[in-house]
Amino acid sequence: MAISRILVVGSGGREHALAWRLARDAHAPRLIVTPGNDGMARALERLDVSDTDAAGIVRAARDARVDLVVVGPESALAAGVSDALVEAGTPCFGASRAAARLESSKWFAKEVMREAGVPTARAFACESETEAFAALETLGAPHVVKADGLAAGKGVLVTSDLAEARAFVRDCLGGGRFGAQARVVIEEFLVGEEASIIAICDGERHVLLPPARDHKRAFDGDAGPNTGGMGAVAPPTAVDAEVERITSEQVVTPMLRAMAARGTPYRGALYCGLMLKPVGTAASERVRVVEFNARFGDPETQVMLPLVEGDFAALLASAARGALEPRHIGRATGAAVTIALVDEGYPERALGTGTIEGLDALEGRDGLFVFHAGTRREGDGWRVKGGRAAYVTATGEDAATARERAYAACATLRGAHWRMRSDIGAGPGVPAATQHGMGGQ
Ligand code: AMP
Ligand code: GLY
Repeated sequence: MAISRILVVGSGGREHALAWRLARDAHAPRLIVTPGNDGMARALERLDVSDTDAAGIVRAARDARVDLVVVGPESALAAGVSDALVEAGTPCFGASRAAARLESSKWFAKEVMREAGVPTARAFACESETEAFAALETLGAPHVVKADGLAAGKGVLVTSDLAEARAFVRDCLGGGRFGAQARVVIEEFLVGEEASIIAICDGERHVLLPPARDHKRAFDGDAGPNTGGMGAVAPPTAVDAEVERITSEQVVTPMLRAMAARGTPYRGALYCGLMLKPVGTAASERVRVVEFNARFGDPETQVMLPLVEGDFAALLASAARGALEPRHIGRATGAAVTIALVDEGYPERALGTGTIEGLDALEGRDGLFVFHAGTRREGDGWRVKGGRAAYVTATGEDAATARERAYAACATLRGAHWRMRSDIGAGPGVPAATQHGMGGQ
């Protein structure tokens, strides 16, 4: 059955990229977004139902007679949006609330990994400061401390400073930072190269999308606090065919079996955040899981989807039906790089005073795509509402070309009180690019 109407739930750069890619399918389906953002509203029909209003989304999907709903953010999954749609008989691509616990609880994910024999860092779940401080001593520096709940990518501290690690534990358990957390997870520090691999799953089978690498730290040279993601590259040099095979066989397949055995089959995008060892390392040692997310990555989606060929809607619809048809998609050759344009105060606070000029002029240029997130239309330009405002993605025959094009495009932007990293897509040891036209300087 051809998919002619699709509703995408969410309002970030990830959802903009999803809607953009779905609209490019051969059948040219009609795309509706909710709640979307001003940038998406220019080319797509936009509703104003909140992404956590499960009943409202069920009604909107029925009223618009959509053939498929694609759920973007973890908050929507945790609010049971997928469960409500499935119950109402509307085909939905997105994990159930029970399956999405792989993301919403770091400790639940560790338990399922242990059950499934999936390679990951040694970890302790701690419910008191005393326990947590003892675990910090046992595992030693560098310390990895994780809040055991949803924290928009900011609930993790990696530090060699024991006092800082202890203060973060206190913050998490004391309810100061992310609301009341009953638990923190203290984890062994993993050494290697990070990569994100996303599997489209139907509960039993899966297919991998092109791999990507996110840059999570706020500043150049991987300095500063963790963010939701400052940019990404696909494919990353650290991922070869062996890494993909191991991820499929030792991570995704056992996780799908374990989730099905628990009575909560995993249907949706399974994001595997990985730490990789170089070629030549024993296969059993090459891949370790850092985290799972129950959704597409943001900003990984903004570089993966430009490299996906074929009928993406048919792929997601087949997964939603529990009858995955991987033949619907293929991979383009070449690479993609995306740069996040963020509020100058991100991630610590939102100034909300930023403006970005010149974004519209980048649209429609070959191999260049603009995806909006926290922007608001203001005159001919864009106001930065806060956080990650927009993404500039470029494709090219290799990562260096894509990176060059993306930064050349960003160099044409003007405005104030926004910033970007200048070393996205640069490999380890590769120096940052020269500073290009950064806003507010
Ligand atoms: P997470 O939200 O679990 O992905 O953690 C955010 C970031 O912290 C990851 O992308 C890694 O850069 C870093 N990180 C998390 N856990 C570990 C670990 N066990 N070892 C090394 N780095 C880690
Ligand atoms: N880019 C990391 C994430 O989507 O959580």
